[in-house]
Order: sequence, then C-alpha cells, then structure tokens
Amino acid sequence: MNDVNVGVIGLGNVGSGTLAILQENADQIALKLGFRLKVTAVCSRSLKGAVMNQVPGDALRTSDWREVVNNPDVDVVAELIGGTSVAREVVDAAIEHGKSVVTANKELMALCGSEIWDRAIRANINLAMEASVCGGIPIHAVLREGISGDRVTALYGILNGTSNFILTEIEKRGDSMESVLAEAQRLGYAEADPSADVDGYDARSKLAILAALAFGERITPADIYVEGIRRISPMDFQYARALDHTIRLLCAARKTPDGLILSVRPALIRRSTILASVQGAYNAVWVKGQYGDDTFYYGRGAGPKPTGVAVVSDLMRVAREIRSGSPERVSPFAHERLGEYQPVSVTVQKRPYYLRFRVDDRPGIIATLAGILAGKHISLEAVLQEPCDTKGDLPFVITLESTTEQAVRDAVEQMSHLEFMKEPPLALPMEPPL
Ligand SMILES: NC(=O)c1ccc[n+]([C@@H]2O[C@H](COP(=O)([O-])OP(=O)(O)OC[C@H]3O[C@@H](n4cnc5c(N)ncnc54)[C@H](OP(=O)(O)O)[C@@H]3O)[C@@H](O)[C@H]2O)c1
Repeated sequence: MNDVNVGVIGLGNVGSGTLAILQENADQIALKLGFRLKVTAVCSRSLKGAVMNQVPGDALRTSDWREVVNNPDVDVVAELIGGTSVAREVVDAAIEHGKSVVTANKELMALCGSEIWDRAIRANINLAMEASVCGGIPIHAVLREGISGDRVTALYGILNGTSNFILTEIEKRGDSMESVLAEAQRLGYAEADPSADVDGYDARSKLAILAALAFGERITPADIYVEGIRRISPMDFQYARALDHTIRLLCAARKTPDGLILSVRPALIRRSTILASVQGAYNAVWVKGQYGDDTFYYGRGAGPKPTGVAVVSDLMRVAREIRSGSPERVSPFAHERLGEYQPVSVTVQKRPYYLRFRVDDRPGIIATLAGILAGKHISLEAVLQEPCDTKGDLPFVITLESTTEQAVRDAVEQMSHLEFMKEPPLALPMEPPL
C-alpha cells in the first residue's frame, strides 16, 4: 500500500520526540500499519539543532507553515507549535486544504475544540488530539473507545506534572514552595513563568477536554473553578499527614443532582487512595462509570518521547482511517447538549473542609472562629495544633464537617478581617475516598 505522508509543524520538545520515534521505530510502525508513515515536510521558525538530523533528507524544510498545509505531498499535518493564534490558523488552513490533523495543543482544543471538530467533520477529514492531555496516557482513546459504553459519573485527575512534582517534593523534603519551584525550573520541569502550571490553568485546559469527552457536554475552561498551589506550605503537609491525608492539585468533574461540578484546586485526599501515590511529574486519571465502576490510568504526563508516542499513535490511527476511507462522523466533544450535565457553580458542592490559620496568638481566638462558623451553620469537627513556639505567627488547623463551599467562603471572608489573622485562612476541601 502507498505511504501516508506527514508534515510536522513545530520542532520543539514534542516535535523532536515525534520525529525521533518516526525515524527510530519506522519499520515496526510500517509492520503494524501495512504501509509506511513518511515525513515529507517539516516547519519551525529556526530549522536548527539536533532535531534536524531526524528529518529525512528528501523532506521539505521551511519556516513558513503555509508551505506545509498547502503541500500536495502532505496527507496529515501534525500541529506541534502550541498557543492559540498561529496554531489555530495552521489547523484551520490544514482542514481547508483537506489535510487530516493531529495536534498536541490542549489550550486550543479546550478553547475551540468543538468548532474545530465540526469543521473537520464537514471537510471529511480526520482529527486526533491524544497528546493534548496527559502526554503518555492514552486517555482520549479510553474515553472515546475503551469505556465509551459506560456512563461516566465522576472523573478525577492529577493532570499537571509540574505542580505534582512541586507538591510531592515539598511533602518529601519539607522545603518551601519557593525553593522547590526554583529547583523545578532548574530541572526544566517548570517554565520561567510558572503561572500556567502552579496557578492551575494548564490543568484546567486539560480537564475541560477530558470532561467534554467523558460527559459529551460542551465544556470550556470558563466553566471550571480554578485555584493554584502557591499557598500550600510544608506545614500543610504536616497537618494533612496528621489527618492521614496528603495534598494534590486535584482536577475533578462529577455529576451531581444539581449538574456537573468542575474544579481544579489543591485538595486533601486520603493517603490510602490510589491518587495519593502518584508522585513526581507523573499524571493519573481515575474514572467512575455507572456500569463499569472504577478504572485508573497512570503514566508520564509530558516529555518529548512520551508525548511523541501519543502523536505518532495518533498519526497511525489517522493514517489507517485515511487508507480505509473512514473520515470522522461524530465529534467527541458534544454529540448534542444533553442538559443533565450542565456545569454548575462549585459553591453548591458539599464537603468536609480543612481550614489552616496563621494568627498572632491571644486568648479567645478559637471561640471567635467557632462563633463565626456557628453563625454560618457550619459544624466544627476538630482543632489541631502541632507544637510551635512562634506565638506571633502561630499556625493551627480546624477541620469542618461536611458543608457547602459557599458557607465556607462566607466564613473565610469574615475571618479574614479579624485583627489577629496574619493572612486569610486557607480553605481546602477534604475529598471522600476516591
Ligand atoms: N512539552 C511537553 O511535554 C508537552 C506535552 C503535551 C502537550 N504539549 C503541547 O505540545 C505543543 C508543543 O509543545 P512543545 O513543548 O514542543 O513546544 P516548544 O518546545 O516551544 O516547540 C514549539 C515549536 O514550534 C515552533 N514554532 C512556534 N511558532 C511557530 C511559527 N509561527 N511558525 C513555525 N514554527 C513555529 C518553534 O520554533 P522555534 O523553536 O524555531 O521558535 C518550536 O519548534 C503545545 O501545544 C504543548 O501544549 C507539550
């Protein structure tokens, strides 16, 4: 059978991993497919460095992506640039020229994946985006195929490797957020501007895609409550451990009688749960189905080679579909708006909570805080205080019985104005066993 020709746009981390696998694993890929994947064009702004050794000698090299998407010798375009401006132009132009598209771009697909998919279906081409979430974990295939016969009721994930690395290092070593973040930057796990990772935005894009796939609902990042990890300190891990919990940046999408509650936020999870054992830069997704119950997926969330595997596997799937003449028919994003999975505000969520305080110690503090909680009809579960001799900046924790997020927010707002408070209380939900 004839080769299927690939154009790769973007030769950075993911592009270089993809080209390396396409080159080193070419024979086995051809055996699995029954034909070869041939790189016929590559594009990046600089066209320099070791990555160019992985480009076949006869492939077109260009810094103008239009020469790839217009190219009659390209069947599938791999968009590996990132961002939402040029990448959107690349994807739109590729579809317009009848090329199938593989993308690793979570930001783009979270923002406008459903429109892109509709265009791809109208144009009779194939689209694939496995690498956009959890690099090395084939979670799209799981949700679209593996467990598509189930009705998902909840999906929890650790979807950002950088923040998981930071949290697990703080937990292991007791070092501050600042010093662990600086180390993550030195090791190349965190960007110079770490905001997308530590403030939860990267994980939010990924959750938007996974929740849309899991529930068949139109979900965008704006539907998801997001809170980052910047306020988590070694003492929070100390208290969490005393409660037999740990802390993770938890991405959650769950069906409730009110609708779908979506959040990315640091949360306490029990140490005995499988998600608590996810360490370092690894990712994991745990899915609960109405019929199939629990399934769990674990692997590397990023990196040139794990993400490259996802891109190459997508290229293989799309190439098979091109050869068998089966274009996309149904968008994985939203078949029709089903209504029952309408996103609702996280403020309706009921959970036990962990409140961590730093106060200038004096008599009557607990009574004042208990009074505020009682005024919001919140029941206090326990008060914890680890030994500490800094009376001017004394940490302690109060845990709350199950209550609504709204009530906790109201109480925290009132407490923040108390003159003995060194900073606003930190409120984290305590997730029931996953
Ligand atoms: N890194 C990961 O582990 C990972 C994991 C999963 C998904 N992703 C996603 O994969 C995508 C790529 O990420 P990455 O880490 O590989 O990025 P990267 O290392 O920054 O590489 C981006 C590449 O795109 C090229 N590029 C940028 N703008 C261009 C333009 N206008 N025309 C032509 N080439 C252009 C760059 O060329 P120059 O270098 O010459 O400027 C570079 O080769 C992103 O959507 C990211 O979210 C990444």
